[in-house]
Amino acid sequence: MRKLKKDNYTITYNVHGEGIPILFIHGFPLSGRIWNEVVPKLSEKYKVIVPDLPGIGNSSFIQEDLTIEELASIIADILKNEGDEKAIIVGHSMGGYIALAFAELFEDMVLGIGLVHSSATADDDAKRELRRKTIRLIEKGGKEPFIRQMIPNLFGNATKHKEEQELISERSLLTENKTLTVFYNAMIKRPDRTHILKNMRFPVMWVLGKQDSIADYKKVIQQSTLASVNFVYVYKDCGHMSMLENAQGLVVDLNSFADYCI
Ligand code: MLT
Repeated sequence: MRKLKKDNYTITYNVHGEGIPILFIHGFPLSGRIWNEVVPKLSEKYKVIVPDLPGIGNSSFIQEDLTIEELASIIADILKNEGDEKAIIVGHSMGGYIALAFAELFEDMVLGIGLVHSSATADDDAKRELRRKTIRLIEKGGKEPFIRQMIPNLFGNATKHKEEQELISERSLLTENKTLTVFYNAMIKRPDRTHILKNMRFPVMWVLGKQDSIADYKKVIQQSTLASVNFVYVYKDCGHMSMLENAQGLVVDLNSFADYCI
C-alpha cells in the first residue's frame, strides 16, 4: 500500500504492474477493492493505480464540505506522487463524476477517460431531494437499512452475486456516517459536465448496463456521442456493477480502450 501524505491527511492507494498508468476511481459507497477482479489482467500490461477515496479504508477523512473537484485534485496529487504525468482515468459512477472533473481541471494529464456506469449530467431536483432525505436518514442512525437496501439494487439481477452483495454491504457498513454524507453532499453540488465531453481532446469509454437502475441506460446512451471519440460498450445482462457482473468482458473492453488511448 502506498501513501499520499499531506499536512492534515493521508490517502492510501495500491499500485500493480508497470507501464502507462490507468487509475481506477471507485464509486459510492464502495472502496478500491471493487476493482479486484479487473486489476490482475490489466496490470500485466499497465501500471494500475487504485486509491481509496477520503474516509474509505485507510484513507483519512478530510472535511465535511469536500467537493467532487477537490476529489479530482487528490487524484492529480496521487499521479504526481507517483511521478506520472499522464494517465487513463477510469471512474465507476461517482468515480466517473470525479474523472470528468479531473478531465476539466487537469486536461493535460489525461490520456483517456473511462465512465463505467456513470453520467456527465448533474442531479435533477428529485435526485437532490432524495439524497437530502438519505442524508437525514443516515444522520438519524439509519445507515444500515440504507446500505442493506441500496447494495442489492446495484445489481441487474439481485438474486445473483449474493455473496458479493453481502461482502460489499459489510464493508460499506464500516464507513462512517460523515464519510457517506460528505460524498452525497459532493454529488448534490456537482455541476453538469456535458460541455466537457464536447470539448474533449482524448477518447471516452462508456460502459453501460442495460439493467442499471442508477445510471439509466436510455439517458446515458444519449451522452455517448458527445465527445469526438467514443468507445461504447453495452452489457445486456448487467446492472451498475460490471466489474463484478461482467468482469471478463470489462477487462477485454478496458484493454482495447487503453490500447487505443496510448
Ligand atoms: C455510485 O454508484 O457511485 C453512486 O450510486 C452514484 C450516485 O448516487 O449518483
